[in-house]
Amino acid sequence: MESGGNIMVLKYQFPEDFWWGSATSATQIEGTKDNDGKGKSIWDHWYEAEPNRFYQGVGPGVTSNFQDTYREDIKMIREIGHNTFRLSLSWSRLIPEGTGEVNRKAVDFYNDVIDELLANDIEPFINLFHFDMPMALQEIGGWENRETVDAYAEYAKTAFELFGDKVSKWFTFNEPIVPVEGGYLYDFHYPNKVDAKAAVQVAYHTTVASARAIEIFHQMDVNHGKIGIILNLTPSYPRSQNPADLKASEAADLFFNRSFLDPSVLGVYPDGLKEIVELHGIAPVTEAGDEALIRDNTVDILGVNYYQPRRVKAKEHVPNPDGPFLPDWYFDNYVMPGRKMNEYRGWEIYEKGIYDILINLKENYGNIESFISENGMGVQNESRFLKNGEIQDDYRIEFVKEHLKWVHKAHAEGANVLGYHMWTTMDNWSWSNAYKNRYGFISVDIETQERTIKKSGRWIRDVSRENGFDE
Ligand code: BG6
Repeated sequence: MESGGNIMVLKYQFPEDFWWGSATSATQIEGTKDNDGKGKSIWDHWYEAEPNRFYQGVGPGVTSNFQDTYREDIKMIREIGHNTFRLSLSWSRLIPEGTGEVNRKAVDFYNDVIDELLANDIEPFINLFHFDMPMALQEIGGWENRETVDAYAEYAKTAFELFGDKVSKWFTFNEPIVPVEGGYLYDFHYPNKVDAKAAVQVAYHTTVASARAIEIFHQMDVNHGKIGIILNLTPSYPRSQNPADLKASEAADLFFNRSFLDPSVLGVYPDGLKEIVELHGIAPVTEAGDEALIRDNTVDILGVNYYQPRRVKAKEHVPNPDGPFLPDWYFDNYVMPGRKMNEYRGWEIYEKGIYDILINLKENYGNIESFISENGMGVQNESRFLKNGEIQDDYRIEFVKEHLKWVHKAHAEGANVLGYHMWTTMDNWSWSNAYKNRYGFISVDIETQERTIKKSGRWIRDVSRENGFDE
């Protein structure tokens, strides 16, 4: 700690109004009761259809049960020092058929959650879509069908009308590229297609839907607030500076970052991406007015989810032209010797990536207001670190601290970064990985539903209270 005049300044001191918090999503935390009126989402459906695709056969019905425990959970969230908290609304809970009738029980539930957060001085950040398409809409083609864009616009407007008087930070989508990759390219989300043309259409409709919601939000001037999108950015690093590696890395950047980043923040698609989709005959069907809609309705704020970088090298083998087109036709992934890994998840840990993203936003994206909306470390069998009733997750403290140092540096260099949210608040159910990896500041015993703050939860409480740390 250094003395700056009379004020003691920490080595990694963040601004007074920095957002400290964590992120969650409806499907992963809420749980479902028989009488709650929720409609089915693709996750409920997929689990019923193919339970063996889920780790240990555990589906989304078995969660940390926030639907029943939110009052106590929010007290704990306050206890670990959060001033902000991200949750998503479940579209199929609020509007069970995707369009039409609103479920009053859902309205009461979300109203209570928001009120409870505000009463505890925690600002809610609401995300409208976190991978959980209502099944009724998936049955008409989901994001492949333009009608889903209209249904989403109606849903967004309904949510703004219902909760907009209390909430001023909104997000249209979390990681919109994940349903594209998982559902339409690499078979890890429903509807498990491998179809690049459909993937491009789904991605395009998602961007149009986001722009529609932003337009409505600004027309309504919801709570004089801000609306953004949350993107998982994976900075792309070439194996070498030779032209072929650089070209491969640029292509990966186009597919996995700029495909959503450019239209969301700059209002236009990158030329390189347009050329590729034209070349392969997979350009999306568009409507008159879309271009202006996307151009005129860019985000106010960007959430950045960062877990891992992407290492890329030039393609070594020519892809089979008769096989289905995949982005991988343009690059090979590359395993960097000596890389640091989170072996549990199989993800590289590269803390400087978070800085590179923030500086890229500063230099190439108008220094848009941003915050780290997810960053975190999933670990298996955490109960083996239990000592004196507390999980000693020093590895997680280390992980967060090292990333925060780079966030601090980016901020000091002028990046417009306003906060840090970890994934996640309390251990929760994760898509097909179920409870394999635990990510929370708070541990949850799924059998008893008992919650205990981990060592990292105490640590983040101190960091957020002091707005920083020394070492
Ligand atoms: C993020 C998602 O990409 O990663 C979360 O927004 C997810 O929903 C998190 O849980 C961690 O990934 P996983 O697959 O290990 O749970």
